[in-house]
Amino acid sequence: MLHGRRVLLILSGGIAAYKSLDLIRRLRERGVAVRAVMTAAATHFVTPLAVAALCEDKVYTDLWSLTDESEMGHIRLSREADLVVVAPASADLIARMAAGLADDLATTVLLASDKRVLIAPTMNLVMWAHPATQANLATLASRGVVRVGPGSGELACGEIGSGRMAEPAEIVTAIEQVLQAPPALPSRASGGGEVGGRLAGRRALVTSGPTREPIDPVRYISNHSSGKQGHAIAAALAGLGADTVLVSGPTQEPPPPGVQLVPIETAAEMLTACEAALPVDIAVMAAAVADWRVESVAGHKLKKDAKGPPMLRLAENPDILATIAQRANDRPRLVIGFAAETEDIVENARAKRARKRCDWILANDVSPSSGTFGGDRNTIHLVEGGTVEHWPVMTKKEVAARLAQRISEYFDRP
Ligand code: PMT
Repeated sequence: MLHGRRVLLILSGGIAAYKSLDLIRRLRERGVAVRAVMTAAATHFVTPLAVAALCEDKVYTDLWSLTDESEMGHIRLSREADLVVVAPASADLIARMAAGLADDLATTVLLASDKRVLIAPTMNLVMWAHPATQANLATLASRGVVRVGPGSGELACGEIGSGRMAEPAEIVTAIEQVLQAPPALPSRASGGGEVGGRLAGRRALVTSGPTREPIDPVRYISNHSSGKQGHAIAAALAGLGADTVLVSGPTQEPPPPGVQLVPIETAAEMLTACEAALPVDIAVMAAAVADWRVESVAGHKLKKDAKGPPMLRLAENPDILATIAQRANDRPRLVIGFAAETEDIVENARAKRARKRCDWILANDVSPSSGTFGGDRNTIHLVEGGTVEHWPVMTKKEVAARLAQRISEYFDRP
């Protein structure tokens, strides 16, 4: 789906700039035209020549270049792309974007752009956690800037924590998701990382969408989840100020502003991404995870032949909700699951809650006549210990807002 699209890639200074070379290569392989702008700091980490060679295009570095301005001009540079991607996005560039500065080519292009912007931050973990950086990110999110990563792990400075730039494959998937989705209107109600909101200082993990379990390189097993419910919950939690990580399977939903999107495909990848997001205070598992995967995925496209249809042997996928709810040392304080049922909805949900050991479970009817999968409405039965609350039919955004409200009340209690 990326073939023929145009990406303006802005590289700022950071050791992760070397990964942007791989990002360019992957985008070019998919038929994307990549034009690059580099900050002065970025040129200390990778050379403009290497970037130009991979882009097969000129690289722009200077706001004051007479030749570049007469040939292209920074306004055209900013308008000719379908998407602006900032990778790596350093703490400094994020701060300058938030302040609306235009003191070099990169910031001028960003300020003059009317296109969607995706950032892949990278920095030291203390810089990442600094209130100034978090406030700058919230400002960008409220303007509709979408973020992918950072991940956790060993950083270039030798410390361990959040701040690693997302991997090139994750950035490519995020680019696909942003380009597929209609533009999200930035608003506080739909996520915007409200600074000082009722969940400010809390960290939330939300799963959303389906998983895809490959059969061979071109086929997979999946389901009809659209991601509408999970994405709305992530937006609502971010809207109340929670630092929200959204681990999502492939969907058409725009990534909500202000959340950290971690795109995945399989259940195994979803589990790895969820574990990497820990510790969190709140986990809401709204994804429709495939219960089974194909035990051995064919390395080549399966062919029709005289032997008849292939037999697919299935293996059980890990249960992500149960794994997170049963973590010994870093179990989130509030673990919330969903139960997708077609009969005995509340009874089955109660049993699921006990089996998976989550705190709350939101049961919903997913029989085809309900329209829950893929639709805009949902009817929830909130099972919490011995009590059940029956919510009226609501839009998925209203369900998300009510759930976020309940969660914030839970955290208001001593
Ligand atoms: O995406 P939409 O189109 O908006 O639809 C929303 C929804 C119907 C997908 C959502 O409201 C919903 O019900 N999500 C859970 C779907 C599901 O897989 O339910 P389940 O009853 O099979 O699983 C119970 C819980 O365990 C869920 O929280 C699920 O995320 C989790 N699970 C399931 C299997 C597995 N291997 N790992 C899991 O974590």
